[in-house]
Amino acid sequence: MTYPELERRRERGLYRETYPARSADPTTEVDGEERLVCCSNNYLGLATHPRLAEAAAKAAEEYGTGAGASRLVSGDLEPHRELESSLAELKRTEAALAFSSGYAANVGAISSLVDERDAVFSDALNHASIVDGCRLSGADVHVYSHCDVDSLQEKYREVDARRKLVVTDTVFSMDGDVAPLEEVAEVTAGDPDGYLLVDEAHATGVVGAEGTGVVGDRGLTEAVDLQVGTHSKALGSQGGFVASDEMTRNLLVNEARSFVYSTGLSPVDAAVAREAVDVVRGGEGERLRRRLRENVELVRGRVEDAGYRVYGDSHILPVVVGAAEEAVEVADALDGHGVFAPAIRPPTVPEGTSRIRVSMTAAHSREDAERVAEAFEEAV
Ligand SMILES: Cc1ncc(COP(=O)(O)O)c(C=O)c1O
Repeated sequence: MTYPELERRRERGLYRETYPARSADPTTEVDGEERLVCCSNNYLGLATHPRLAEAAAKAAEEYGTGAGASRLVSGDLEPHRELESSLAELKRTEAALAFSSGYAANVGAISSLVDERDAVFSDALNHASIVDGCRLSGADVHVYSHCDVDSLQEKYREVDARRKLVVTDTVFSMDGDVAPLEEVAEVTAGDPDGYLLVDEAHATGVVGAEGTGVVGDRGLTEAVDLQVGTHSKALGSQGGFVASDEMTRNLLVNEARSFVYSTGLSPVDAAVAREAVDVVRGGEGERLRRRLRENVELVRGRVEDAGYRVYGDSHILPVVVGAAEEAVEVADALDGHGVFAPAIRPPTVPEGTSRIRVSMTAAHSREDAERVAEAFEEAV
């Protein structure tokens, strides 16, 4: 079989491949060689935590390894209900609904809430699952400049629609910055037709007391209608969720096609995510967040001192190199030190801002963090 689109990708240097890795440990074999991985979203190291592995084994024995059917048929199992009440507590909402991925949560939530009669206002750097949800909904999509509330406000005022949905990530995955959420919330505040959906994929478990996320940390729970999250990053499991009021949950149960027409999340993933919520809310979660912060501060400080520009102000460290070829050279130099963090290039990021997206985790030791910093110092 030949596919011209694959050839075109190769010609443009955009051909993608997977790298076989052995485990989610920070030190593991990637592509046949032992490497220090610093590009995963396993921010708290929970994907290899013994408490979660134990919860997985117990759930598999008690409930089986798969849900066997959609939640609306016979796949609504005890671990789903327990997980959803834990997530609602974490997010301080009335209710939560688990999906089979964060991608499915965004696509399902956005396309349930708005249709051809409506308008969506979406940050220019929102995640692809938000972009796809907007497209699928059929609503008029208005993209506002990244984190620019004036641009959002202007578009929002100009448009007349049945419903107006503002959508933003809180912590942005590729820029590591945080949305000005208080100001964004003011745009929809007081508008009976206005809705605010935020994606806390990179904040849940990491930001705020008990890892509640940016929304809870800034006291904005009442101002945000839907909080989307994923179990697949700091929570070390698989799946996604929407935390909201009870009526919005009912809407999603009835209208979200990615919920209705998809097998329920496996009871193993649900039980693991629930255990993770317990961990992040407790003393161990606090300890892991502190560990993560120490690693991030060490690497940010030393990499900046070495002359690189590091975007953002969160636990994600986008080290900006510039031209795509130079970013590849830096990634290769890091690889020479056994540090695995691939170059992120256009079209994923704007031209001239190719970067290495470094994400340290709580599972990295201080020595690991120093090794990453040294690798950058030598690569410069
Ligand atoms: C901001 C954001 N939203 C949603 C997702 C999708 O989550 P999942 O990996 O659970 O599908 C991701 C990551 O993949 C993400 O970075």
